[in-house]
Parts: sequence; structure tokens; C-alpha cells
Amino acid sequence: MYVCNCFGVTEAQVKKHADGGACTPRQIASACKAGTDCGSCVRRIQALLGRDACPRRELADRGKPVLAELAELAELEDAA
Ligand code: FES
Repeated sequence: MYVCNCFGVTEAQVKKHADGGACTPRQIASACKAGTDCGSCVRRIQALLGRDACPRRELADRGKPVLAELAELAELEDAA
């Protein structure tokens, strides 16, 4: 099933990139361009990545600074 219709990126491809270490929508975008055109898939990509997949999210949950990552996400969401 396609997650990103603009670039024909499937759920399996996103999960493969996540398994390879991508843990933010921006890192997925760097790997396969998903989310870089209309942006409507960014929330689905975020959902696929899940809460537990990202070490930086764990830092945020513990109150550590991860503002650069949050700013990147906000940029992607604003583009949506
Ligand atoms: S559906 Fe992914 S960028 Fe448009």
C-alpha cells in the first residue's frame, strides 16, 4: 500500500528505511523523498515511525533538548 502517492513510496519501503535507522519524517524524506511534495503523507509516515522507534523522541520525553528535530517536523507539517 502506498504511503506517499507523489513519489510512489510504499509502507514497506518506509518501514525498511525506519529499520535502517530513519526515525523522523525528514530522515525518511532524505532516504526516498516521501513527504517532500504535497506533504499530505507526513502524518502517515510519522504514524508508521511510531513513538518508540526514535531515540530522540525518548530524549524529548525525558525533557532533553531536541528542538532541532521538532523544528524540522514543524517545517514538514507546515508544508502539508
Ligand atoms: S503524498 Fe507524499 S508528498 Fe505527496
